Amino acid sequence: MTIRDVEHWVEYLDLPAKSPQQFRMYERSLNQILQVLRRIKCLTYGMFLITCTTLILYLVRDVMTVHLISQQASFPVRRRPGFAAAIQMEFHRECTPQQNIIFTKTHKTGSSTITNILLRYGEVHNKTQLLYKYPSSTEYKKLDPERLMTGRPTANIFAQHANFDHGFLTSHIYNTSKTFTILRSPVSQFLSAFSFFEKTALYPAETFEESIKLFFKSHGHDKYLTESWFCKNCGMLVNANSVDMGFDLEGYVMSQDRDQFLSDFLDKASKTWDLVLITEYFDLSLVLLKRRFCLQFEDILYLRSLERIKKETVEEPYTLAKIAEMQKLDIALYEHFNATFWREVEKEEGIFEELAIFQKLNKQVQSFCVQGSRVGYQGTYANVLSPEGRKNFQCIAMNTRCLNFIRLMEARDDTAVPRSDIPRIAEDYTDPDSLNYNQIVHMDRTENVIDLAYKNRFRFNF
Ligand SMILES: *[C@@H]1O[C@H](CO)[C@@H](O)[C@H](O)[C@H]1NC(C)=O
Ligand SMILES: *[C@@H]1O[C@H](CO)[C@@H](O)[C@H](O)[C@H]1NC(C)=O
Ligand SMILES: *[C@@H]1O[C@H](CO)[C@@H](O)[C@H](O)[C@H]1NC(C)=O
Repeated sequence: MTIRDVEHWVEYLDLPAKSPQQFRMYERSLNQILQVLRRIKCLTYGMFLITCTTLILYLVRDVMTVHLISQQASFPVRRRPGFAAAIQMEFHRECTPQQNIIFTKTHKTGSSTITNILLRYGEVHNKTQLLYKYPSSTEYKKLDPERLMTGRPTANIFAQHANFDHGFLTSHIYNTSKTFTILRSPVSQFLSAFSFFEKTALYPAETFEESIKLFFKSHGHDKYLTESWFCKNCGMLVNANSVDMGFDLEGYVMSQDRDQFLSDFLDKASKTWDLVLITEYFDLSLVLLKRRFCLQFEDILYLRSLERIKKETVEEPYTLAKIAEMQKLDIALYEHFNATFWREVEKEEGIFEELAIFQKLNKQVQSFCVQGSRVGYQGTYANVLSPEGRKNFQCIAMNTRCLNFIRLMEARDDTAVPRSDIPRIAEDYTDPDSLNYNQIVHMDRTENVIDLAYKNRFRFNF
């Protein structure tokens, strides 16, 4: 089977009306035969045609499924083999899934979607997470041994917000870990952060753009990163991704040669992070991650979340230039890693074919899991799950906010949480479209959502 075949398949299953002619032909002739059969009363004819039909069915099946499934034994599929396994196999290469992962969660870059992917990956593949200790707030980001979950000094995955500290993380994540992160174009990253952290309330103005101008006026940002590195209300807002990656702002401002300081940081960062993804190419980033970490399609599925309903923009070149000037560290970081990202993509043969398949699978799974949307948390969209979606771990976990997901895992795993607190904690999670305590403890994780989403897509009018 070739990639072309797989494409036809996904197309066919996705949109039966636009299926390749070949398959429509099979379907049509089969239905014609069945119609004829209905009209004929003679038993002999009937028997003869039943034999023919069986034969044709067998042939069609041969073309349609046997072909897809037949080679499944050639690589380990954890769960019951099916359509997903067959598609996965097409893109399989000899590799072992990455067991230990450090993710540097950056601000307003789509990183919550990736954290959700890693939390699910852990739950489905029996991996442990390095978690902040209950009941601390995850907003406090200094990594500290005392804040680790009781009874778990070492784990497989770290995916929470933190001030990046490579030494700390590598000593608490099992060896042979890989480290990755994601960056976003610094101008849109700033706009998104400004809106998300509700800075418009601190700088009230008629429009979003005026509010940003007011922000510049209020703090004399011309001085930012020159006379003093200090900038009121800049936390998580300005050069936030550099800070997320452990850039030392103070060291930069104090240094004799700032350009050298920055370029040293970039050199070191290139060695520290095995992979840096780019938000502007999100799906491609996920497919690259899948290849480099030897994951399966199912592992990288996602539902859009926390997307802003009102997309505020800034148009005046002057304001944009001011933002860019202020974000210069993040811009240097972004340009450097956007270039390395594309160099890595170029090494991957067939990655765009795989991307096209992934996007179709993800769309199909999305329409299986979700039936509508409502206004959710902080002016963002929230999905309403379908009845089937509410019964599937992947669907419901994909739709669970990271913070809630992590809290539930803490309640389940942290030995410091008194068992008598559990009923009270459980009461905080009653949204049917998001994981609850009973589900985080008991729900079956083995149902393959891609198979479910594609089930019953073969339709013959018997
Ligand atoms: C999950 O992993 C732990 C060790 O990390 C092991 O003891 C346990 O048996 C595993 N469970 C399953 C269901 O594989
Ligand atoms: C990883 O290996 C190093 C040296 O081989 C060791 O010092 C360290 O404790 C190991 N870390 C973990 C988490 O096992
Ligand atoms: C990222 O790099 C690619 C390839 O060099 C380039 O085409 C693209 O414009 C860059 N993206 C941004 C947002 O700078």
